[in-house]
Amino acid sequence: MPAARASYDAPVEVLRVTGGHPLQGEVTLTGAKNSVLKLMAAALLAPGTTTITNVPEILDVEIMAELLRRLGCDVTHDLAASAVRITVPENPDHRADYDLVRRMRASICVLGPLVARVGAADVALPGGDNIGSRGLDMHVAGLRRMGADVSSEHGYLLAQVPDRLTGAHTWLDFPSVGATETILMAAVLARGETVIDNAAREPEIVDICTMLQAMGARIDGVGTSTLLIEGVDQLHPVEHATVPDRIVAGTWGVAAVMTGGDVAVRGANAEHLTIALEKLETAGAVVDLLADGFRVRMEGRPRAVDIVTLPYPGFPTDLQPQFIALNSIAEGAALVTENLFEARFRFVQELARLGADVRTDGHHALVRGRGSLSGAPVEATDIRAGAGLVLAGLVADGCTTVYGVSHIDRGYSGFVPSLRGLGAEISREEVSDR
Ligand code: EPU
Repeated sequence: MPAARASYDAPVEVLRVTGGHPLQGEVTLTGAKNSVLKLMAAALLAPGTTTITNVPEILDVEIMAELLRRLGCDVTHDLAASAVRITVPENPDHRADYDLVRRMRASICVLGPLVARVGAADVALPGGDNIGSRGLDMHVAGLRRMGADVSSEHGYLLAQVPDRLTGAHTWLDFPSVGATETILMAAVLARGETVIDNAAREPEIVDICTMLQAMGARIDGVGTSTLLIEGVDQLHPVEHATVPDRIVAGTWGVAAVMTGGDVAVRGANAEHLTIALEKLETAGAVVDLLADGFRVRMEGRPRAVDIVTLPYPGFPTDLQPQFIALNSIAEGAALVTENLFEARFRFVQELARLGADVRTDGHHALVRGRGSLSGAPVEATDIRAGAGLVLAGLVADGCTTVYGVSHIDRGYSGFVPSLRGLGAEISREEVSDR
């Protein structure tokens, strides 16, 4: 059989956005990507059937489901009920292969549960990605302090526990979300007490702690930077609803401001977005809190707003590209400082194709607002960059074609239908890649 030839014009999906329509109406949120993946991994900690509800319809959930299946779990995704049911065997497998890990970095979150439950984990190293180098040193140091033997060989992180993990006093150099989760999920089944100092406090961490507590875990200090975990011998399966996606909620808020629209975001927890909503007010929006979310109204051109990203409760890095898009059409200039991911400004080169004036220097970006942007083809390099480019397309003159749609699909459930429902002119199309 002749060898398959590479094709330079294979079809690819794009989003075509025609700018100039204010967004009006309401959207309803689903659960947070950055929580649901960890909740699914946490299911590994108890044999039996765990049900997770308020699950977003995103690609990453499907990848995590496949990863759990390969570990021996039975996973069903009930789309109508937005629920995932995970039946975990008594003896799960412990290998997470590169073909899945390379598609979804968050696969690393099975590391803690596997070490705790099976006493071993072979997890492919995810490597860096388009937003930065993304080390794992704090995950590894935490597990080692608890008695795990961790090494890396042939691209895999290999963790072994001779007997059972032992609780330990651990501290993080930086309140890493991932390292907090790995150590937390390992500690709940360890012998004795674990302390995690300088722990991350994101609402998604609180969500996992809440689920683990319902499973029988003993955790104090939830939502603070010191977590105290008293290990237990076993946990039991539960049903748990995923926390609403604050980043998707914030993205809708920015979209309302940029387009001079009026959008109610239902099913949101506004307390998780305090700083971001205040920034929208500084930009000139009226933000009203609703019983089940918030509403953002805007008239006229937004004012530029400075942003400094920090771990929660600071301004989230996952809203930084969207706020750069906002600043690119604002009155005045804004200084945006990115403190989490060194490469997260990469996407400004794409925004520049639409006419944005952004200069970067290390972890600072100076954005000078322009009166208008002009539609052009652009490439999304990660989820949030993709969202930022779509938002820019909503206000650019003419048509913007966004490539790299799979990135957006990883984090935004039903993005195109929701945008259309709000009055945006946007469609998903297949084009030849040339
Ligand atoms: N870091 C280390 N060593 C470690 C752990 C982290 O150097 O052992 C560094 C990272 O390289 C990075 C910084 O610390 O520069 C922050 O990393 P963190 O561990 O806090 O982030 P994460 O767990 O890798 C999660 C979200 C990200 C979100 C960040 C910060 C998931 C699946 N991902 O990543 O979400 O930006 O927390 O809030 O939960 C996104 O959704 O677009 C996204 C990138």
